[in-house]
Amino acid sequence: MSREQIIAGNWKMYKTTKEAVDFIENLKSKVGSSLASIYLAVPFTMISETAKAAEGTNIIIGAQNMNDATEGAFTGEIAGIMLKDAGAEFVLLGHSERRHIFKESNEFIQKKLERALKDDLQPILCIGETQEERDSEKTEEVLETQIKTALKNVSEKDMEKVVVAYEPVWAIGTGKTATPEIAEKAHAYIRKVLKELYGKTISDKISILYGGSVKPANIEALMNEKNIDGALIGGASLDPDTFAEVINKC
Ligand code: 13P
Repeated sequence: MSREQIIAGNWKMYKTTKEAVDFIENLKSKVGSSLASIYLAVPFTMISETAKAAEGTNIIIGAQNMNDATEGAFTGEIAGIMLKDAGAEFVLLGHSERRHIFKESNEFIQKKLERALKDDLQPILCIGETQEERDSEKTEEVLETQIKTALKNVSEKDMEKVVVAYEPVWAIGTGKTATPEIAEKAHAYIRKVLKELYGKTISDKISILYGGSVKPANIEALMNEKNIDGALIGGASLDPDTFAEVINKC
């Protein structure tokens, strides 16, 4: 079964617009022949300029978060239609930093995901367990609840647009990557839950990305696993040479 392979960078709260545009100019000269789709989740302020810089390339620009409302008195928030208007094509939802630092619930993430689909933004649903949950053998239970809650109202047709990213919280920004075996076990479980919800044909088509300390040295071993279809990368996506190295190893 061939699935779309996606290498996605998540820039979190880093870079100015000029640095971002320079990055894209540099990256596009290095990854033109890549077979993987290249996604970049950039800060809101640089969506527009990076989308222009990426025009005509295989680099797709998206955002890192959005609100579930279309407009309203929500100081400091941003709507999906605003992201779309600025040139975003996808949005990360439920990233562990949103869940843990900003206390976003599964229910809130569900509402955002529903809104993103209505606003024609491709959702990348991020899920993952904490160290404590893994230690107490709750990984599968946590993943199942995160998936089933977030996808509550997603139709079979819409599900074909959704990407899932498994990011164990203990592996993010820690240098502690999950071994390919640990990651594959979680990915296979995620696909099993998706199959239960949507059947084999659809679950076989959904790209599941791994995130957590991915770098040039470990991408190949991760990508060799059957259910790992790409990566969501923080630190190693900030430097164009390192990010291009990861992409070109896929
Ligand atoms: P790192 O690659 O820096 O561990 O970050 C992973 C991540 O949070 C991507 O969304």
